[in-house]
Amino acid sequence: MNRIEERQQTEHNLQGRSIWVERHRPATVGDIKGQRAVVDRLKAYANNRTFPHLLLAGPPGTGKTTAALALAKDVFGDDYRRNMLEMNASDERKLESIRTKVKSFARTAPIPGTSFKVIFLDEADALTPDAQGALRRIMEQNAATCRFILSCNYSSKIIEPIQSRCAIFRFRPIADDQVREMIVSVAEREGINLHPEAADAIVHVSLGDLRKAITSLQVAASLDKDVTRELIYETTATAPPEELHGFFLACQQDGFQPARRRLRDLLDRFGLAGTDLVNQLHRELGNVAFLDELQKLKVTEAMAETDYRMVEGGGETLQLDAMTAKICSLI
Ligand SMILES: Nc1ncnc2c1ncn2[C@@H]1O[C@H](COP(=O)(O)OP(=O)(O)OP(=O)(O)O)[C@@H](O)[C@H]1O
Ligand SMILES: [Mg+2]
Repeated sequence: MNRIEERQQTEHNLQGRSIWVERHRPATVGDIKGQRAVVDRLKAYANNRTFPHLLLAGPPGTGKTTAALALAKDVFGDDYRRNMLEMNASDERKLESIRTKVKSFARTAPIPGTSFKVIFLDEADALTPDAQGALRRIMEQNAATCRFILSCNYSSKIIEPIQSRCAIFRFRPIADDQVREMIVSVAEREGINLHPEAADAIVHVSLGDLRKAITSLQVAASLDKDVTRELIYETTATAPPEELHGFFLACQQDGFQPARRRLRDLLDRFGLAGTDLVNQLHRELGNVAFLDELQKLKVTEAMAETDYRMVEGGGETLQLDAMTAKICSLI
């Protein structure tokens, strides 16, 4: 099932709309968080009740699909789904199927009172340049009746001729205070007791991805309506900063065996894969006060080497031990 089907299914079959990211998805462009520049331009489109082809680019969970749906709703009203065809590019193996679907969709008249229909193509960067070339022709053939909204993570993977036909919108990771504001408000509406330190933890783990933030909250809340910091770190498979600092400290002061035990303990307790742990250590290294700049540079190199070896298939236990040994000798 692709993401569109997944979302439609959750929208349809869960009467209570029990998935929080769906339940709290903004329905109008004005309610989209952050993305000031994007929202201002989209509002202008909504007011004029028309828009050009759009290319929405940016990291996951920052509001691209939300913006496409909200804009369609603002322009076409509650019945907007009848005027909108959603497709997932990574799913449409052959461009032929996109062509066929677009063709039959474009043939039917738009709902009364509107002059065009919308085709939303998610994950457009999954299409090869050749397929994008064909897509460009499809866009041209249907330009009179259809507007395309393309969504992608990397606009650089979209060929120039398509980019030049679209108004480009760049979505940024959501700022920490806005992630916080959102989850605090979701918690309130869902009747969850979210501890302030737990809210901080969600901000820390979600890295500007609002989908991840809201999902983390829901997963934790499904276990306990009293959501604590510990619960968030446990359920998101993230080691809290002080634990990661503890590992570096053990490397520096206690030597290899104790450091190794700490690392094993972190893997077990938080259910981490080796590469997760290395990446979390890397992210936290910048905040470690007891190491100097040069030490951090060397440790970073050791971690990068370990990550690479594990990705290439090196055994996790051996590689992590080797990393610990290396860090012990470096700091
Ligand atoms: N800017 C935002 N304002 C409000 N809610 C948001 C925003 N971005 C994401 N969300 C929340 O996260 C959920 C997922 O967002 P959305 O589907 O728009 O992400 P996306 O940018 O399309 O990500 P992907 O690249 O993974 O498709 C939404 O249902 C909504 O609850
Ligand atoms: Mg999306």
